[in-house]
Amino acid sequence: MTDKIRWGILSTANIGRRRVIPAFKLARNGVVAAVASRSLERAQAFAADLDIPTAYGSYEELLNDPNINAIYNPLPNSEHALWSIRCAEAGKPVLCEKPLASDAAEAQHMVDAFASRGVLLAEGFMYRFHPQAVKIKEMVENGALGTFNTINATFTFPIRTEDDIRMQTGLAGGWRVDGCGLLLHQCDAADDG
Ligand SMILES: NC(=O)c1ccc[n+]([C@@H]2O[C@H](COP(=O)([O-])OP(=O)(O)OC[C@H]3O[C@@H](n4cnc5c(N)ncnc54)[C@H](OP(=O)(O)O)[C@@H]3O)[C@@H](O)[C@H]2O)c1
Repeated sequence: MTDKIRWGILSTANIGRRRVIPAFKLARNGVVAAVASRSLERAQAFAADLDIPTAYGSYEELLNDPNINAIYNPLPNSEHALWSIRCAEAGKPVLCEKPLASDAAEAQHMVDAFASRGVLLAEGFMYRFHPQAVKIKEMVENGALGTFNTINATFTFPIRTEDDIRMQTGLAGGWRVDGCGLLLHQCDAADDG
């Protein structure tokens, strides 16, 4: 047994491969113990590339693994609620990719499913914890940047292929206009661009 968090990775997603698993490996408090895919071959290839000891050919097997303490969920947006809630039912805490859910009702359903079981749910919304953001907050609060009347911020990133899951409306990707006429974009901060 180890006192480190034993992470299970739900799918062979790019964001896991490129960003999150390398970060888990650098962390002092966790290890990446298993990956699951809809295809055993894909899971095994991913596990071999990233030096992950266990590969499963279904998401259910990962959820049923008693040696896994927590799940990282980087599935397409449309699958976040379904599989995160199944993790909660299995008693496993989840770090879910953003956006957490497709709308407020679905997000509330997720929060309720975790809260009622006393299981932790977190959205992978990292900027609030980044040392740069913490420093800026400190500088705003101590007046180092003067007095603010307005703050204007924009964030954009390129998606280079139309078949990217983040562009598929059937997978809760893309964009939409809300009731106030505001253009709501999916917000992904870790794209290569
Ligand atoms: N890419 C980024 O820079 C980035 C940044 C921030 C947040 N995110 C979020 O992270 C999540 C994953 O994004 P990604 O770009 O890493 O996606 P991706 O590479 O396309 O990976 C998604 C994974 O989900 C699994 N999957 C299950 N059902 C699927 C379906 N119907 N269609 C396609 N794949 C399916 C697949 O794994 P298996 O085949 O192994 O089962 C696939 O590898 C999204 O919620 C996205 O918003 C991405």
